[in-house]
Amino acid sequence: MSAISLSAVTKRFGDAAAVDGVSLEIAAGEFVALLGASGCGKTTLLRLIAGFDTLSSGAIRFDGTVMAGEGRHVPPEDRNVGIVFQSYALWPHMSVAENVGYPLRVRGIRGAAKADKVAEALAAVDLSGFEARRPADLSGGQRQRVALARCLAMDPAVVLLDEPLANLDVNLRASMEDTFKEFHERTKATMVYVTHDQAEAMAMADRVAVMEAGRVLQVTDPVTLYGEPASEAVARFVGNGSVVDCRVVGPAASGRAHVALFGHEADVRADPATLAPLGTTARLCLRPEHLTLSDGEGFAARVAKATFKGSHALLEVAPAAAPAQLLPVWAPRLVPTGTEVRIAIRDGWLLPGAAMRVPAARAA
Ligand SMILES: Nc1ncnc2c1ncn2[C@@H]1O[C@H](COP(=O)(O)OP(=O)(O)OP(=O)(O)O)[C@@H](O)[C@H]1O
Ligand SMILES: [Mg+2]
Repeated sequence: MSAISLSAVTKRFGDAAAVDGVSLEIAAGEFVALLGASGCGKTTLLRLIAGFDTLSSGAIRFDGTVMAGEGRHVPPEDRNVGIVFQSYALWPHMSVAENVGYPLRVRGIRGAAKADKVAEALAAVDLSGFEARRPADLSGGQRQRVALARCLAMDPAVVLLDEPLANLDVNLRASMEDTFKEFHERTKATMVYVTHDQAEAMAMADRVAVMEAGRVLQVTDPVTLYGEPASEAVARFVGNGSVVDCRVVGPAASGRAHVALFGHEADVRADPATLAPLGTTARLCLRPEHLTLSDGEGFAARVAKATFKGSHALLEVAPAAAPAQLLPVWAPRLVPTGTEVRIAIRDGWLLPGAAMRVPAARAA
């Protein structure tokens, strides 16, 4: 395993920067997900780490050694990286065992040593007994596991994965998440996993780096990312948070604030270091689980949409005080569209810094 250090990594295609000044320290053995919408630069960054593309500026180091930048470019084959793509990139004319053994053969490993490594790698992805099959005779999930075994057999220091589950169905994705986690524990390789699926990123990664337009907006562990997004963009992208205006009416207990919104007051979480002055308007991130249907307390709202989800229902409610704002709410049962309800605010996260944007509004 290698530590990866990215310093102001930039890649321009013509005038446009696909990756724009990304600095990120990835510890040896860490599992980091790069999360972002289509076109934000995830694949480009991965290709730069692998060495398939050259940098426009900045530097990439593995364990302190310059791989790219500062006038150097170490070719991919000398970086000891394993790569798993969305398209499995298996040789169709080779058997499973030949596919997995191919990179070993290229490295001059043959005979029993090679056979042992191949058997071990296939066992690790639960594909023992499939040695003689051709890729065409495997399911999508099995093909992706062959690609993973091929990567595993090489003992790479760094494993780069580009949306490896994108072609698989929902059930298979969940079981493959376990396969990737086991793979990580077994190899202790440093892993950089590209996805636009936030659930996938949060389920597997030690830390998630959220990207937008070539930049990293926030990088932190999944629990902090979900619970304490640093900006409105991250709050909206991760966990489908609603972001609404509120007024800070008082500091509550440490790490909390008292806010007013939709004609109602609530206690929410806040970073004391960035807590807005009393009376100012701030932006509040509300997750569906922060809101509950209530019998008395809370603000008045109307159910605008209701979707049955099996164990619960997902409602979208429009507050009477701001009918254009739709807030998702988990409910234990389906409530018909048009029903007048009261919604209690159990929690929320006051977005840091956002309050400075808006001048103080007089208390109504
Ligand atoms: N070889 C290239 N030449 C010109 N522009 C490119 C090239 N490769 C990527 N880009 C552009 O750089 C930007 C980032 O592309 P990239 O493939 O890294 O996005 P991505 O985050 O991986 O998206 P997706 O989730 O759709 O795979 C895009 O605007 C893309 O059009
Ligand atoms: Mg991509």
